[in-house]
Amino acid sequence: MRTASFLCFTFIIFVSQIVDNSEASFIIRRAPKKPLSPVIFVPGDGGSQVDVKLNKPSTVHIFCTKATKEYFNIWLNLELLAPLIIDCWTDNAKLHYDNVTRTTSNSPGVEHRIPGWGDSETVEWIDPSHAKQGAYFKSVGNMLVDNGYVRNVSMRGAPFDFRKGPSELGQYFIDLKKLTEETYDLNDHEPITYIAHSMGAPMLMIFFQQQTEAWKEKYVKRMITIAGAWAGSAKAVKVFAMGDDLGSLGLFASEMKPMQISMPSLAFLLPFPAVWKPDEVLVSTPRRNYTHSQLNEFFTDLGYPIAWEMRKDNLKFVENFAPPNVEIHCLYSTKMKTVEGLRYKSNDLSSTPELIYGDGDGSVNLRSSQACTLWRGLQKQSISTLNVEKVEHFEILHNEKVVNYIKDLMIN
Ligand SMILES: *[C@@H]1O[C@H](CO)[C@@H](O)[C@H](O)[C@H]1NC(C)=O
Ligand SMILES: *[C@@H]1O[C@H](CO)[C@@H](O)[C@H](O)[C@H]1NC(C)=O
Ligand SMILES: *[C@@H]1O[C@H](CO)[C@@H](O)[C@H](O)[C@H]1NC(C)=O
Repeated sequence: MRTASFLCFTFIIFVSQIVDNSEASFIIRRAPKKPLSPVIFVPGDGGSQVDVKLNKPSTVHIFCTKATKEYFNIWLNLELLAPLIIDCWTDNAKLHYDNVTRTTSNSPGVEHRIPGWGDSETVEWIDPSHAKQGAYFKSVGNMLVDNGYVRNVSMRGAPFDFRKGPSELGQYFIDLKKLTEETYDLNDHEPITYIAHSMGAPMLMIFFQQQTEAWKEKYVKRMITIAGAWAGSAKAVKVFAMGDDLGSLGLFASEMKPMQISMPSLAFLLPFPAVWKPDEVLVSTPRRNYTHSQLNEFFTDLGYPIAWEMRKDNLKFVENFAPPNVEIHCLYSTKMKTVEGLRYKSNDLSSTPELIYGDGDGSVNLRSSQACTLWRGLQKQSISTLNVEKVEHFEILHNEKVVNYIKDLMIN
């Protein structure tokens, strides 16, 4: 059977060669493949490597490293996330907000860099040692390479400092435009397919809003988003209040919190008004409710008004939910318990709230991962969706249906 179908397949190729190329010689060649659209991966929150170099005036514990000659990887280096050492790590990874310049900087004596610009390797694997937990765009990347893509030529990566919000990432959008044009030139002027995860989706929305229609028609084939946090997530409210343990890495949310709440990206990712109504309750206490339009009061009462300052810096990006005007494929998951709100049993916001759950992928609420469909009828380019049920926000990157969908779109 197998032989028969193989022969039949060969025959079709042979005949089509003769028909297509009647003047050519009768040599059996493989049918010309459709040209591959080069890929640029755009990672999400936590999806890029971060290296630091230290020359610190002081450290939080005596055993913390004070100075290093070279840059070393801190994200996602699981050794540095061990108990005790995590305090050293937090001080090296966290940002400090300046409410006058409206920008963040590292702790004194910490220099950072995001390695691997243009390369796919550092977004295929977040952990340079390629530990299993650090697998990121690996499954999609391997599938593409198996089908003819070449790392660093037709498959690129656009990592960024995910700790920051778009208000501080202006240079990233400029660099992404350059990388797009360079990749287009490197690949016989084939338009680009962008593949984004999580926060990468709204980052690309902003990027495309900034480009002219002519530029997009020339350089952009499509965007594919996986678990896109298009319109933020209620989980960001939870992280500001309690921190997050990053799933099953054996970490404590409370230990991760000081680093996490210092990130303007977390304030950017608070629920967007595109899919949250102003009077929707996000946090409740016996005394009062905090609605979407009262998040600023929540952060004041939480004793962390900086969160709202960082949000204000990014409001113009959050509030402009205009269509990107490119072909979109939104791949997402549902039916995983996803935080929708917090309910405190006491009026003390330092107590532990009960989490209210709704539908989503465990991190991003369904209404946000589906928000791409709000642009149907508002842009002429098509918007397709794939819902894979019961797959977690990071696991979905390795989901067979997702990988096959991308394969069908890109290769077959
Ligand atoms: C800025 O920060 C300083 C010091 O933390 C604080 O005293 C001041 O009230 C803040 N200003 C604004 C506008 O938030
Ligand atoms: C990727 O390409 C760039 C520029 O073409 C080059 O500088 C870099 O070393 C390459 N990286 C790898 C891993 O080949
Ligand atoms: C908070 O909102 C809920 C509806 O979401 C309402 O039933 C409740 O009475 C409100 N609580 C307070 C204290 O206003």
